[in-house]
Amino acid sequence: MCGIVGYIGQREAWQIIVKGLKRLEYRGYDSAGVALVDQQHINHYKKTGKVSDLEAAAAGANLQGRTGIGHTRWATHGEPSDRNAHPHLSEDGRLAIVHNGIIENYGPLKEELSSRGHVFQSDTDTEVLIHLIADILAEEKTDLLEAVRIALTQVIGAYAILVTDREHPEQLIAARKGSPMVIGVGNGEYFIASDASPIIEYTRNVIYLKDREIAFINGGELLIKTIDNEVQTPYIQKLEMQLEMLEKAGYDHFMLKEIHEQPRSIRDCMRGRIYPQEGKVQLGGIKEYADKLRNAERIIIVACGTSWHAGLVGEYLIEEFARIPVGVEYASEFRYRNPIITERDIVIAISQSGETADTMAAIELAKERGATILGICNVVGSSIPRLTHGGVYTHAGPEIGVASTKAFTAQVTVLTLIAMYAAQLRGTLAQSKLVELLTSLEDIPTLVEKTLACDQATQYIAAEIKDATNAIFLGRGVGFPVALEGALKLKEISYIHAEGYPAAEMKHGPIALIDEEMPVVVIATQNSSYEKVISNIQEVKARKGRVIAIVTEGDTAVRALADYVIEIPDADEAFLPLLATIPLQLLSYHTALLRGCNVDQPRNLAKSVTVE
Ligand code: AGP
Repeated sequence: MCGIVGYIGQREAWQIIVKGLKRLEYRGYDSAGVALVDQQHINHYKKTGKVSDLEAAAAGANLQGRTGIGHTRWATHGEPSDRNAHPHLSEDGRLAIVHNGIIENYGPLKEELSSRGHVFQSDTDTEVLIHLIADILAEEKTDLLEAVRIALTQVIGAYAILVTDREHPEQLIAARKGSPMVIGVGNGEYFIASDASPIIEYTRNVIYLKDREIAFINGGELLIKTIDNEVQTPYIQKLEMQLEMLEKAGYDHFMLKEIHEQPRSIRDCMRGRIYPQEGKVQLGGIKEYADKLRNAERIIIVACGTSWHAGLVGEYLIEEFARIPVGVEYASEFRYRNPIITERDIVIAISQSGETADTMAAIELAKERGATILGICNVVGSSIPRLTHGGVYTHAGPEIGVASTKAFTAQVTVLTLIAMYAAQLRGTLAQSKLVELLTSLEDIPTLVEKTLACDQATQYIAAEIKDATNAIFLGRGVGFPVALEGALKLKEISYIHAEGYPAAEMKHGPIALIDEEMPVVVIATQNSSYEKVISNIQEVKARKGRVIAIVTEGDTAVRALADYVIEIPDADEAFLPLLATIPLQLLSYHTALLRGCNVDQPRNLAKSVTVE
């Protein structure tokens, strides 16, 4: 997915747009570009690479203009290059567009436009859209707003677009379907972006544009209408986000800051939702569906990536506490598999960004077939919370690092609360057990704080494994999703190939990989599967494997076997993922650093994948 920023008002646009694009680089950073409308002319600058590369390339150029649009790209159609970078202009240079999304029917549209003499400069679907708008503007002899509206009725796919017109510097058009768009309402000026982070420092008054809406800013006035020409009343909300949450706050990287924010984010996630003394969980966002949960015959969890790993933890805990059968599905598979869904099913969709296309499509499918959809999201006002019947926000705060860390533990916390809430409703856990569990859950943020002290040990071990080409992560029970998550963290930021596996499965194949070169990370804390995991460690050692073990503090048995140990505090087995994941996050962070990788913006990745 990509990031887009627009500005129109009494200030110079360039700096506002460039600064905003830097806040959105986590969404994509293959190339960047800006178009400025000045004196009936569009000056546009675009460059492969990061926003800072664009700034360097545009140094000394004419950067005047109080209306402008900008874009930072995660390539979908057309490889990252200067010519495929946005903005794209109409052939006559009158119009400019930036776009986040995919025009699925761009091929037929391009053929039709080419047959009418249009000549294209890039391989992108976006350029087709601006040519279509220009074509309609000329053919229909209409105004730009109507030309954009007509063009969008012909588009199949997802879009968040900004369009400027050099003949009307007082106008700026924004439209969205399937990709996010936020409008910041200032005093006679407007800030438009893919999310609120480029807007927050200028105004807290925001409008979350809805799917199929078009915003038309003309001479300081804002009009919102649908692509069906129905005028909408703008609904202005107050932004809750704090600007300092978007800064690195003294940490070298957002990822490290977000790892260290986890005591707070888990505490915030539980705030107002647990009453340990009464053994009670309260989840306002789903209480309307309490009966559905009480009588649920099945829960299906749909998610992608790290959120899918959180879903696996949820499966263990919901089945353990609430005795409801749970299935965890990759959203991308679920949406195309023609799954069996009935109105008796509850579907839980997990997404940090709330914008992941596959997860949104899975929700739509389940909804069509009558299921009750509950969401677990982090970004307030994102698309998924608007698609679901109910849900629970994770309140982890903005997560900028592409590798998800605090969002994962916050998702696991919410799933733990849902599992206990359902158990409370169904009477599958005694009150005394709920009191006990909630009392220890309340203490988890303190134990997470204590666990962060393992940073030194992870730095040492990172130096030992940084030259590995492969790694394997093993765990049993709730330790298995932790192993998967640890493997994903390592591979996505250090580019070392890593696999997560159920520890018992290792002997069914992966054990053939074990040698003295490959690090084997084992979740070996003292819980119900401890003895079995020790056997697995012995199997690895018998083949000269190098074992890095996550152990309960004070452990001696594993310490006698493993090459390296990282101690974490003891806690109820159900809460193991909230603690054991921390050293794996730090291990991947330090390994990536030692390998010179870009920790916050790993190659080829984006923070939220809003395309298929
Ligand atoms: C995790 O570190 C990755 N950034 C990625 O797997 C991510 O979890 C996945 O794309 C899902 O994103 P979402 O939670 O925003 O839907």
